[in-house]
Amino acid sequence: MSSPCCTTPLSYQSGFGNQFASEALPGALPVGQNSPQKPAYGLYAELLSGTAFTVPRAEARRTWLYRLRPSANHPKFERLSRQIVGSQTGPATPNRLRWNPLAMPEEGTDLIAGLHRFVATAEAGQASGVSIYLYAANASMERVFYNADGEWLIVPQEGRLRLVTELGLLEVAPLEIAVIPRGLKFRVELPDAEARGYLCENHGCALHLPELGPIGSNGLANPRDFLAPVAWYEDRDEPVELVQKFLGELWGTTLDHSPLDVVAWHGNHVPYKYDLARFNTIGTISYDHPDPSIFTVLTSPGAVTGQANVDFVIFPPRWMVAENTFRPPWFHRNLMNEFMGLIRGVYDAKAEGFLPGGASLHNCMSAHGPDDATTSQAMAAELAPQKIEGTMAFMFETSQVLRPSRFALESPTLQADYDRCWAGLGKHFQGSGD
Ligand SMILES: [Fe+2]
Repeated sequence: MSSPCCTTPLSYQSGFGNQFASEALPGALPVGQNSPQKPAYGLYAELLSGTAFTVPRAEARRTWLYRLRPSANHPKFERLSRQIVGSQTGPATPNRLRWNPLAMPEEGTDLIAGLHRFVATAEAGQASGVSIYLYAANASMERVFYNADGEWLIVPQEGRLRLVTELGLLEVAPLEIAVIPRGLKFRVELPDAEARGYLCENHGCALHLPELGPIGSNGLANPRDFLAPVAWYEDRDEPVELVQKFLGELWGTTLDHSPLDVVAWHGNHVPYKYDLARFNTIGTISYDHPDPSIFTVLTSPGAVTGQANVDFVIFPPRWMVAENTFRPPWFHRNLMNEFMGLIRGVYDAKAEGFLPGGASLHNCMSAHGPDDATTSQAMAAELAPQKIEGTMAFMFETSQVLRPSRFALESPTLQADYDRCWAGLGKHFQGSGD
C-alpha cells in the first residue's frame, strides 16, 4: 500500500526545544487559548505531556493537539503474541563484547518486528536508564505505534526512514538522526528496499543540548540545525492497528480510523531530526586531545550532576593536529558504560573488526582502547596535520551498567575473539637504565 504521505513534500521548522506551532488548515490552531469550548473545524483538543506538570520550566515538554478524534476513543489493548526480539535480559558481564551487523531480514519485516534489544540498563518501568536496540527491516509499517516507555533516538545506518507521526512527516537518512518523543504515535515507512540502524530508548529525562561552558555560545550541535515537522494529518475511516510498548511489552488494538489525525498543534514535545554533518567539531590545537565529551550531540542528564543518564556522542570527520601526542583515543578505564556503533567508514581506534552496522560494549571499568595495529601505527606516525575522513562512529554512554539480552549473548553475530585485538600489545619497557 502506498500511503498519501509518500507524495507529500517535506517541510520543517528549525530550532531545538522551541514552542513550535503548526496548522494544516487555516485557523485550526486556537489563538491565545489551549482548550476552547468548540475548537475550529469540529476538532478535539488534547494535551500530550512528556514531563510531569511541575518540572522546572526548562525541562517541561508538552504539546497541545487538535485532532479529528481524541486518543481516548480506542478499544481494549491485548498483549501481542509476538514480542520484541531480545526482550529477555541475560547475565551481566564485565567482558568486552563486539558484534557484527545484523543480517537483513528475508521475510517482510517492519521496524517493530525488526527491533532487536541488545543491551539495557534497567527494566522499562524505571524512570531512568536506557534500552539499546539494533534494527533491520524491509517493509513499511502498516500499523501505528507509540512507546510509553521512553523517547527514541534513531540512528540509521543503511536505508532511509520516513516517520509519519501525529505531528507531521520527517525523513531521515544515514548520517542523520531522529528523535521521537515518548507517547507520540507514528508509523515508519521505508523509501528504500531495506533499512538497518541503531535505536536508543531513553527512559530518563528527555534529551537536550549539552551545556557549552567555556566553549561559549556557539559550537557542537547548533540549535537551528534541528528540524521539527509541520502539521499533516490523514482522515481515514478504516481499520488501523495501534500498537504500544508498555513496560517492555507490545500491546495492540484495532481502531476504526487512523490515529494520525492531528490537524494543528503547538508545543515542544515534538519529533525532530538532525544532520550529523552539521556538527561543529571542536578539538585541540596544541597537544593531547580533549575528553570525548567534546563530541556530545545530545544529553539526558542523570541524578548526579555531570553524570549523564545517556550521552549521544559522535566521532565525525575532523582534523588531527596535536603535537607530540598519541592521537587515537587513549587506553582507558571509565566509570561510564559505552555502547558504540559505526555508521560508515573506519573508527580511528580500530583497524579492523568493528564494522558499519556492528556494535561494541565496554562496561564500567572494563579496560579498552586502540587495537594492536592502530597503536603501533600511532606510535610510529609522523605527526603532520591529518584529516580523518569518510567515517562516522558514535557512542551511547550511560551511567548505569548495560546488561546484554539473551539474544545478544547467543547471537551468531557476537565475535568470539574480540579480546584478541589487544593481545599483541607487548612490553616495550627498556629497563631501569642499568
Ligand atoms: Fe571507551
